[in-house]
Amino acid sequence: MPILGETFPNFFVKTTFGDMHLHDFFKDSWGVFFSHPADFTPVCTTELARVVQLMDEFTKRNCKVIALSCDSKESHLNWEKDIKMYAGKDGPFPYPIIADENRDIAVELQMIDPDEKDSKGLPLAARAVFIIDPNKKMRLSILYPATTGRNFDEILRVLDSLQLCDKHKIATPVDWKSGEEVMIQPTVPDEESKQMFPSITCVALPSGRKYIRKTTIVNKL
Ligand code: BEZ
Repeated sequence: MPILGETFPNFFVKTTFGDMHLHDFFKDSWGVFFSHPADFTPVCTTELARVVQLMDEFTKRNCKVIALSCDSKESHLNWEKDIKMYAGKDGPFPYPIIADENRDIAVELQMIDPDEKDSKGLPLAARAVFIIDPNKKMRLSILYPATTGRNFDEILRVLDSLQLCDKHKIATPVDWKSGEEVMIQPTVPDEESKQMFPSITCVALPSGRKYIRKTTIVNKL
């Protein structure tokens, strides 16, 4: 299981788009890898449908998406019809789904939910989500229980933050959304920050310390 900043494993995967190595699929794009307990289940269907609806948003951010579920490729291909209908979208299914029937990848990435079992008593994969950067480094890892559906607007928000923070010495505050004020990183000395950012607002705090320095950056998508 990689930790943040480590290379995401280059698994050889069987998918609805054919067999492939993960790194070949991502090429030099950003990547989102997300896992599911099982096909033809209600929460999973809503999640995969939401990602179908958000495909243009991921593409705009130069990000490829791949899902994983612990069922067969044939099952995934049948399930895709339900997902597309639920999403209200026609046409080819826009991203691959990995068939992790033996749970090899789910075990390797430590994303098994011991509390949720299939009809054979086998533990199901939890709802993991990973963001992988163009250098194949893992930049985000979140693990949700099988009973809680994810919020994919949050995943897009993190992508925006990561992409902006890779370009500038800034960080994004609580509940930040693209276009809103950002924070200058604490390690940037005041003199240097004035050269880097045209307008800075420093928040006066009871401690007298000037560590909340806000600025604006235009993020072009
Ligand atoms: C669901 O996708 O609805 C689900 C799957 C496994 C356990 C609980 C819910």
